[in-house]
Amino acid sequence: MKSTLLAIESSCDETAVAVLRDGSDVLSHVVASQVDLHAPYGGVVPELASRSHLETLPQIVNQALSEAAVDISGLDAIAATTGPGLAAALLVGSAVAKGLALGAGLPFISVDHVEGHLLSPFFGDEEIPPHVGLIVSGGHTLLVDVHEFRKYEILGGTRDDASGEAFDKVAKLLNLGYPGGVQIEQLAIGGNPERFAFPRSMIDSGDFQFSFSGLKTSVRYFLGKGIQDEDIPDVCAGFQEAIVDVLAAKLIAAARQSGHCLVALSGGVSANRRLQDKVKELCLANGLECRVAPRALRTDNALMIAHVASRMLEQGIFSGVESNVKPNFDQHFASSN
Ligand code: KG4
Ligand code: ZN
Repeated sequence: MKSTLLAIESSCDETAVAVLRDGSDVLSHVVASQVDLHAPYGGVVPELASRSHLETLPQIVNQALSEAAVDISGLDAIAATTGPGLAAALLVGSAVAKGLALGAGLPFISVDHVEGHLLSPFFGDEEIPPHVGLIVSGGHTLLVDVHEFRKYEILGGTRDDASGEAFDKVAKLLNLGYPGGVQIEQLAIGGNPERFAFPRSMIDSGDFQFSFSGLKTSVRYFLGKGIQDEDIPDVCAGFQEAIVDVLAAKLIAAARQSGHCLVALSGGVSANRRLQDKVKELCLANGLECRVAPRALRTDNALMIAHVASRMLEQGIFSGVESNVKPNFDQHFASSN
């Protein structure tokens, strides 16, 4: 992997640029979060997101290059997330990346955001080992059988809300602010997860599908009956335990079915300690190994995009600058470019 590349991530509410050398040497990583911009609305406002990407990206690209002490002419490729995500937000990042690539005569690499999350636990590794990956983020909850780099089989996903979305919606019901996963986890530390039982939707469905909207509705009805402030930690702990139980059970079942002895967690929700502990406990009991994405690569970031791009560069997989963004999730991600 002898290469230096610059990667841009702008699919949702983080504007991020990374310069990566030889697949694992981080020369720079600049992330500008838009959380404060969207917080008053309780969720991401697409128009505000794309406008903010447009305003900040040029200076972040310059900052990433100067921190890396690399000139554009010292790069081997330019990469960008081209989907899935908010269409206008993706367009900003990919247009900037394509412009840089065209101007400098460099190849452009189009990276799938889901593949970025999926492979993030293996940042820095030579090979992607066979395993079952669970992506748990604000936009996705996906179980994937990974045979090797670029050979993926989707085992299941969510029918409605993503797991991070469920954390955020319940946090909103509890007036904890946006995004709410971290606040729920913090409050749950002092709570009793067994005092209030919330549904483990589809835990016995026998497949790898998820559904979290019923859980959120059940919390809403429960809160509608009226609770005291001192009950909030128990509600957070009970809700978190319900999500964690379903995610961990299905991940382990998927590993047993696939025959792989390794599982991996990625995406913003993989930062949750209770989820990590539960998965590790079940892995130990089932003779499985577990990998979790490194801290800086859990929520949206440009390093995970640079990581996938450097593996693509190594295999000579490029995209034309005329290629389009793909806002919707593609079941055949990573096999279509
Ligand atoms: O991966 P990410 O940046 O988003 C998407 O790509 O969609 O993840 C953000 C999500 C949010 O829903 C946030 O509430 C959740 O990850 N999150 C957490 C924790 N930290 C972030 N959820 C539960 N526990 C956490 N510690
Ligand atoms: Zn993401």
